[in-house]
Amino acid sequence: MASKKLRRTGVSLEVCERLKRHQIETCQDLLSLTPLEVMRLAGQSYRQVLMLLQSVSQACAPSMTTALEVWKQRADLCFSTSLPALDRLLQGGLPRGTLTEVTGPSGCGKSQVCMMLSVLATLPKYMGGLDSGVIYIDTESAFSAERLVEIAQSRFPDYFCEKERVLEMAGRVHLFRELTCQDVLDRLERLEEDIISSKAGLVILDSVASVVRKEYDTTLPGNLTHRSNLLGQEAATLKYLAQAFHIPVVLTNQITTHVGNRGERGAASFRGASDERDSGYVTAALGNTWSHSVNTRLIVQYVDTHQRQIVIAKSPVAPFAVLNYTVQKEGIRLEDSAALCCSCGLTFPALTADTQPRSHTTRLPWPHPLEDPQPTHTHEMMITRKCCIKAQTRASSRSE
Ligand SMILES: Nc1ncnc2c1ncn2[C@@H]1O[C@H](COP(=O)(O)OP(=O)(O)O)[C@@H](O)[C@H]1O
Ligand SMILES: [Mg+2]
Repeated sequence: MASKKLRRTGVSLEVCERLKRHQIETCQDLLSLTPLEVMRLAGQSYRQVLMLLQSVSQACAPSMTTALEVWKQRADLCFSTSLPALDRLLQGGLPRGTLTEVTGPSGCGKSQVCMMLSVLATLPKYMGGLDSGVIYIDTESAFSAERLVEIAQSRFPDYFCEKERVLEMAGRVHLFRELTCQDVLDRLERLEEDIISSKAGLVILDSVASVVRKEYDTTLPGNLTHRSNLLGQEAATLKYLAQAFHIPVVLTNQITTHVGNRGERGAASFRGASDERDSGYVTAALGNTWSHSVNTRLIVQYVDTHQRQIVIAKSPVAPFAVLNYTVQKEGIRLEDSAALCCSCGLTFPALTADTQPRSHTTRLPWPHPLEDPQPTHTHEMMITRKCCIKAQTRASSRSE
């Protein structure tokens, strides 16, 4: 909330203009100054400045709410992905008011997810949509209007059989191509007005990593700090916008290879390349601080050239789980409504709302990658993080 613009806090236009001349535009900018500095910059008396600081503090302070109030609004807390198994695991879909990151290797389907979500956001509410506009910030020139229309017409053929509906949908997706870090930052600074004018119910930044990684060589001294500051600023602005407008913000990220022990890798590491190497592992780019900025992290990864997986790697409400998908004409298609155990790749029956944790014993169809081959394997039907942590601990102790 500290990123809130001063002109949205009730401060007079005249004072806002005076402060803007000194690059004081947000609550944080103003509240970082001493009263004497504000007096000089805003041309106000000491008494006026104290009142100004108090009203701005109040305007950006998070308001208190009870769990009961949040519970009552739960139907309005998520944006459905139209993938029922993923929605069930995420307790309704992508959370509004927070940041969701989709990260994965090139060509795995991150931009396809973004385009599909754009179509969904424009749909009427009775179809699970948000009946809203979309702000789509494209930093890789990967957005395709043809593909957007193809996804819409293939996924909802009955609804988009009328040309007017297709035109209306496409007209609600507002595309900004921003190809440098400064352009992205400037766009985010102006996004508040754009959200209001386009009635946006969804903001997409595809991708947050590409411009940052192009411009910042973090092996050079000082660059890592600059990059962290830039990412911190972007995350703060996006979080503020997500909260202020109660909308989902979706970001895409790339992957990177780290040199180090396999045992050091966290839940965000990828299968495949990492398992074949002794001295490296593949993980989400942009570092640890960034990973704490996103509230939900979905990892997309290849199983083979056709088959891919979505991993719920970080979520305050969902278990750590894996879903198989393919990219089709209609966008993302889940291959089954089942989820996989992250430690052994075993498929669980569809997780339904009433699924209770139950013990599940089965014969493994293939040798367990992390344990000595055994004829049977027992674990919980409900996938838990414990299961994955246990598996990683075993993997690290084996690699030592
Ligand atoms: N019309 C289509 N039908 C089926 N698959 C498609 C279609 N268009 C793109 N794809 C698939 O989408 C993948 C590229 O996805 P994309 O979202 O651009 O990747 P990235 O993760 O790099 O953003 C490719 O595997 C491509 O085959
Ligand atoms: Mg892409």
